[in-house]
Amino acid sequence: MSELTPKTMGQQFGRRSWAEPWKIKMVEPLTVTSREQRERALTEAGYNTFLLRSEDVYIDLLTDSGTNAMSDRQWAGIMLGDEAYAGSRNFYHLEEAVQTYYGYKYMVPTHQGRGAEHLISQVAIKHGQYVPGNMYFTTTRLHQELAGGIFVDVIIDEAHDATSLHPFKGNIDLDKLKALIKREGAGRIAYVSLAGTVNMAGGQPVSLANVKALRALCDQHGLKIYLDATRMMENAFFIQEREAGYADHSIAAILKEFCGYTDGAWMSAKKDNLVNIGGWLAVNDSDLFEEIRNLVVVYEGLHTYGGLAGRDMEAMAIGIAEGVQDAHIRSRIGQVRYLGELLTDWGIPIVLPIGGHAIFLDARRFYPHIPQSEFPAQTLAAELYLDSGIRSMERGVVSAGRDPETGDHHYPKLELTRLTIPRRVYTQAHMDVVAESVKAVYDVRAQTRGLKMVFEPKYLRFFQARFERL
Ligand code: F0G
Repeated sequence: MSELTPKTMGQQFGRRSWAEPWKIKMVEPLTVTSREQRERALTEAGYNTFLLRSEDVYIDLLTDSGTNAMSDRQWAGIMLGDEAYAGSRNFYHLEEAVQTYYGYKYMVPTHQGRGAEHLISQVAIKHGQYVPGNMYFTTTRLHQELAGGIFVDVIIDEAHDATSLHPFKGNIDLDKLKALIKREGAGRIAYVSLAGTVNMAGGQPVSLANVKALRALCDQHGLKIYLDATRMMENAFFIQEREAGYADHSIAAILKEFCGYTDGAWMSAKKDNLVNIGGWLAVNDSDLFEEIRNLVVVYEGLHTYGGLAGRDMEAMAIGIAEGVQDAHIRSRIGQVRYLGELLTDWGIPIVLPIGGHAIFLDARRFYPHIPQSEFPAQTLAAELYLDSGIRSMERGVVSAGRDPETGDHHYPKLELTRLTIPRRVYTQAHMDVVAESVKAVYDVRAQTRGLKMVFEPKYLRFFQARFERL
């Protein structure tokens, strides 16, 4: 494999562009605001982009979650909603899509990813057990902790270094996992929590070699692997691009092979599955499934709708088949890279390699004069909004929350501001506008001051915390 730089990674596209494999049939007008309007909106929102009204936002890069544009086929599927309480035909279509493309045997729908995280955590974690994972995700770790689990980060060290060009920064460090097994014994480990394209690391993939080796290690110790499949189709793209022997395999084939090394998966369908709401939980073990099927009734809804309308399940089943197409993923990641390359060309510090779903601005290097206790990534999100009405999100000390034992802030090595690209929503011209705004904020960085937190909710504080300018 040749050395990876943002440029060489784009070369697999060759002379040909990654242009979108679709055209636009319906448009949604955007609002452009004045600087004064944005100053007012941001003050009202306590400098937290989650608390802005979307009407006050111009280009919304808060998240790629539930913000996808559905296709004409999916909208047609909405009209085929079978809104029966039990046994909706849309459920069977969804079940078939999960079995066909992900390969798991049994599945329940959930209202979104965290509904599935809740269920798997409740059935698979005993109080006091460890849950090793390749970096944490906010809702995933919280559900594991609420079930009595203790999260342990076993991702490779490179993942915590925004500048490392390792091609699979999402990989599990098997030595870290072995050390945990040796120290605590396999009986004290609930399961391995493996995520595709690790969100908090910058959308960084896991290799097939890594999951194969992980499977072998887990088999030696009788451990299960459950996969966060939220952005697994994007992970498959990176395997196709970077892992020897996979260039000729389709995304669909790689996805299925990867999932085959795991015992089950939870899914936030609001990402890769190209819908606005929904999730699912799938496993291969029939006894475990019986427990899940029972618990879903308590928290989500009957096991054939899990908190969703029939039409939502139909859109999801169609979205799964669309999302796994090579041409789709290629243009999806091509667009993310296009934005990333504009920024790196201007010397703006971002997490490299460019990941699957977002550009992560490295707020430590962007604002070296703002200490982490003054929330540099939160500050950067606020400044970007003020400059142009672009909405981004903090993924640093605010998102990391507090240590449940000591009550101190977690101080993650990565202090990032995420520009997340919704699927099939914005154009290349929007990406130009975004890059120019980041550049404008970068040019005046030395004058920028940090923030102080003036309100902090107990759970997942980044969603509702409030700040003031220092
Ligand atoms: N796992 C990962 C990797 C996620 O990124 C998310 C959500 C979830 C699980 C939870 O799924 O939102 O459907 O309940 N991530 C969103 C984001 C919120 O903006 O990254 P959910």
